[in-house]
Amino acid sequence: MISDGFIEELKLKSDIVDIASYYVNLKRQGKNLWGLCPFHAEKTPSFSVFPDSGSFYCFGCGAGGDVITFIERIENLDYIEAVKFLADKAGINMPQNDGKSEDLSNLRRRIFEANREAARFFHNTLYSEKGKEALKYLKIRGLTDNTIKKFGLGFAPNSRYELGNHLKSQGFKPYEIIQANLGVSKENKEPWSRFFDRVMFPIIDLRGNVVAFGGRTMLDIKPKYLNTSDTIIFKKSSNLFSLNFAKNESTEKLILVEGYMDVIALYQAGFKNTVATLGTALTPEQAKLMSRYAKEIIICYDSDLAGQKAAQRAIDLLRQTDVLIKVVTVPNGKDPDEFIRLHGSEGPTRFNLLLNSSNNDVEYILKKEALKYDIETTDGKIAYLKSSIKILSKLNNRLEQDIFAGKLSEKVGVDKSTIMMQLLKEHKKNKILEEKKEFLKIQQDLSAKRDFINKDKSKNLRAAVAEEALIAFIINNPDIANNIFLKLTPEKFCTDFNKRVYSCLFERKKANRPFSLIDLTLDFTKEEIAKIASFLAIESRRNSTIKAAYEYIDVILYESEKFSEVELNLADENKIREYMLKLKSIKNRGKFDNGYGSY
Ligand code: CTP
Ligand code: MN
Repeated sequence: MISDGFIEELKLKSDIVDIASYYVNLKRQGKNLWGLCPFHAEKTPSFSVFPDSGSFYCFGCGAGGDVITFIERIENLDYIEAVKFLADKAGINMPQNDGKSEDLSNLRRRIFEANREAARFFHNTLYSEKGKEALKYLKIRGLTDNTIKKFGLGFAPNSRYELGNHLKSQGFKPYEIIQANLGVSKENKEPWSRFFDRVMFPIIDLRGNVVAFGGRTMLDIKPKYLNTSDTIIFKKSSNLFSLNFAKNESTEKLILVEGYMDVIALYQAGFKNTVATLGTALTPEQAKLMSRYAKEIIICYDSDLAGQKAAQRAIDLLRQTDVLIKVVTVPNGKDPDEFIRLHGSEGPTRFNLLLNSSNNDVEYILKKEALKYDIETTDGKIAYLKSSIKILSKLNNRLEQDIFAGKLSEKVGVDKSTIMMQLLKEHKKNKILEEKKEFLKIQQDLSAKRDFINKDKSKNLRAAVAEEALIAFIINNPDIANNIFLKLTPEKFCTDFNKRVYSCLFERKKANRPFSLIDLTLDFTKEEIAKIASFLAIESRRNSTIKAAYEYIDVILYESEKFSEVELNLADENKIREYMLKLKSIKNRGKFDNGYGSY
């Protein structure tokens, strides 16, 4: 297991500012640093790093924690893997792991290994007698041996058992094969191969692990592509095909296409900065992920209706990040793979021309809008103007609005200033609507919170705020923590979670163990650490003095006494009198303004 000493060493060598700066562009503001949150899409920074407590917190999405939690989240690792990742970076040797808590880590490792072995098996099969047809198929689709090797393409033989037998001969257990989703369980029997008689496309994560597969049938059956379902190492919605290659390209552009074959054909044609989603529409996580690797994203979806709808969705999602968006339409209903092949040796040059003629997202949308109207007629012109102005009014960039107002003015022959005026009016209307919506949401949240608190007396907000402040104070001031522990025992806490945290700090102090946030990762889950990080984040604004800390203690004592009222036997007069006296004695000390207005 991981020891306090090891964490101590890791803490010294893994400065959260250094580590987070690697992923997020951070700007110093006073003691702390701010940047755009890497865990949700935003345009104004609410992600903050607190060097003093070695923690981070996003005031927008609530992501938070210490340096280990940060790596767990951003690299998509489990706890042990994140520790190992940081240890490697810092040049520290990992302690030998054993013990139960590593079972999951072990299973993850076994799944990675099974996938790698399966990829090797599929690839070898492709180049064996059994793979002849499949190899021919890939060659007809224009792929060279080099490309096939680069992407590790393979063939799953037409048998339900071959892969399983092979994996077993390499020491893999049926359970591991099923957990990897390489096999599906058949009661009491050997697991069946999920993939058979399909051309196989390994999906590789950013660290070079095979995490899943896509398999294409060569026959006319459905589904055309079969993909690995989500497993404990693979989430379809947060991976992108070929990002492992694309991220190494020095260009800061990414081309987003729909299919595996589009990616591979473009790669072979020299466009190595191409990625695709994995059989689903683009997700917010994937949009965010791409924005970490590119300043410009060129959407190049099929020109059929489904493709264009998907493009619109991708535009909407990417707009929430800060990338520049371009859209390319491949002519004649082709996809990029077909386009490249159609033009033979001229394919790459032609595709490059397409890329250079790409529209930015607004141009693209306006162009599509124009197709809906007959601009030669007055009615058509007005309708087109109206809908275009609606679209432009949603842009949050005045300069962009100005440019497109100019273009629109040329196109329909209406004065630019008139268009601009309408545009700003519409923009204002949108803003007011948006603000109203936001206000309503906050109001709803607050009333929901209040209902929740009223329902459950143990959710005593006044106590909770004091408890959270005190916990943050103790973590930040380990030297004077003992004074606090002497005055307040854990039972006095009203809120279950806070009680657990305080007990942990209490016990650690007694045992002379450290209790900074990173140390607590040994005792709490990732989500719980995030919650404690939020206490630290709020405390960093408050910056409590020791005097304030004593006031928190008074509030907690007062509230816990008040709470015990509920349990008081109302028939026992003496007890009630005793209670009233006690309450009086601490009441005057218990004046404490939580600073968040009253609930
Ligand atoms: N896809 C999928 N499951 C399906 C169909 C499609 O996961 N049943 C995904 C695959 O990732 C595929 C992408 O959606 O690459 C695009 O599908 P489609 O346009 O139908 O196929 P192409 O990429 O053109 O495939 P091919 O060129 O091999 O026909
Ligand atoms: Mn295709």
